[in-house]
Amino acid sequence: MARDTWFETVAIAQRRAQRRLPKSVYAALIAASERGVTAADNVEAFSELGFAPHVVGAVEKRDLSTTVMGQDISIPVIISPTGVQAVDPDGEVAVARAAAARGTAMGLSSFASKPIEEVIAANPKLFFQVYWLGGRDAIAERVERARAAGAVGLIVTTDWTFSHGRDWGSPKIPEQMNLGTILRLSPQAITRPGWLWKYAKTLRPPNLRVPNQARKGEPGPPFFSAYGEWMTTPPPTWEDIAWLRELWGGPFMLKGVMRVDDAKRAVDVGVSAISVSNHGGNNLDGTPATIRALPAVADAVGDQVEVLLDGGIRRGSDVVKAMALGARAVMIGRAYLWGLAAAGQAGVENVLDIMRSGIDSALMGLGYAAVRDLGRDDLVVPPEFVRALGVPAADHR
Ligand SMILES: Cc1cc2nc3c(=O)[nH]c(=O)nc-3n(C[C@H](O)[C@H](O)[C@H](O)COP(=O)(O)O)c2cc1C
Repeated sequence: MARDTWFETVAIAQRRAQRRLPKSVYAALIAASERGVTAADNVEAFSELGFAPHVVGAVEKRDLSTTVMGQDISIPVIISPTGVQAVDPDGEVAVARAAAARGTAMGLSSFASKPIEEVIAANPKLFFQVYWLGGRDAIAERVERARAAGAVGLIVTTDWTFSHGRDWGSPKIPEQMNLGTILRLSPQAITRPGWLWKYAKTLRPPNLRVPNQARKGEPGPPFFSAYGEWMTTPPPTWEDIAWLRELWGGPFMLKGVMRVDDAKRAVDVGVSAISVSNHGGNNLDGTPATIRALPAVADAVGDQVEVLLDGGIRRGSDVVKAMALGARAVMIGRAYLWGLAAAGQAGVENVLDIMRSGIDSALMGLGYAAVRDLGRDDLVVPPEFVRALGVPAADHR
């Protein structure tokens, strides 16, 4: 990557994204809901955790590799599915190329702007993510398309609550991109010539359709019509999840688990993995940070299913903290979206490199040869940090 686009931390990528993107597009990446308490706690909770380093005994080379849902990955960080479009003309294909270049896997949102077939061509380590939208027949059709395309796993996200108010105001996202909306956006876009130029070169406006909600080869419905259908679909029961698990047959993750009782039910329906997640603080505000909920969930089911975490990961040492508290790997959301906005594919690679070197240096400080050596003794965990959700009140800490 050229020196002038390289960044050394995710915070710098975020500032670049803010400078490059039209205000409403940047606000869509920040997302969060209501007061933004959960989104903030996801990040801040990591700074409450400390390390207990060794002074001598570090090894020369460290092994950061692991597996998630049957896929070998070179670092314990994978791409979390996100449905934001209009950040970069290559969108999910650029992200897939970056993840492949850095040897890791990717979750593809069903609200993505690129067809799954194109994204898998760039990275075959692809997990397709579904929302409960349109009922069993419609979901089965989408899942079969993903299977035919070669998806190696399914991620089911069920924690969305349609919470729409934000104290700082929500961005106005147009129903579709045509000349009228481009002109309306232009006062914002004109101050962001880099972003505008990227699209001008493609001769195509940002795609606000969701092609993976339709049959292969079709353009897919506009984002808001798919969203409307989702709002009117009855939410899934545990029987529905068991049905989908059975239909898919292969590696299967339930994303959004925060409670021990839910984690145990997920094990009962036969999932292969869960992600301790609160959707990046975009749904039910007031949910604790995911890193606070992780230890109890990992203790309860970590020997039966793969436990991942997503929410608030901004540096490699956050990944190490999550692994020390029981996660097998983590998923990142905003961090790579900011990298994508800042410098396209190279920006996502840059973010994954920041994660790699941060994990590596934390492991060195702790004196380990591999990420699998991490354990709770490596951390300073303040009293009252852990939140054991979904266990009898006496066990609540
Ligand atoms: C802008 C945005 C869009 C998202 N879209 C989806 C989505 O389509 N499907 C999904 O399962 N999660 C979605 N998420 C949640 C992420 O997969 C992930 O849980 C979250 O971003 C993790 O928190 P972090 O952003 O602090 O890393 C989205 C998150 C953001 C910020």
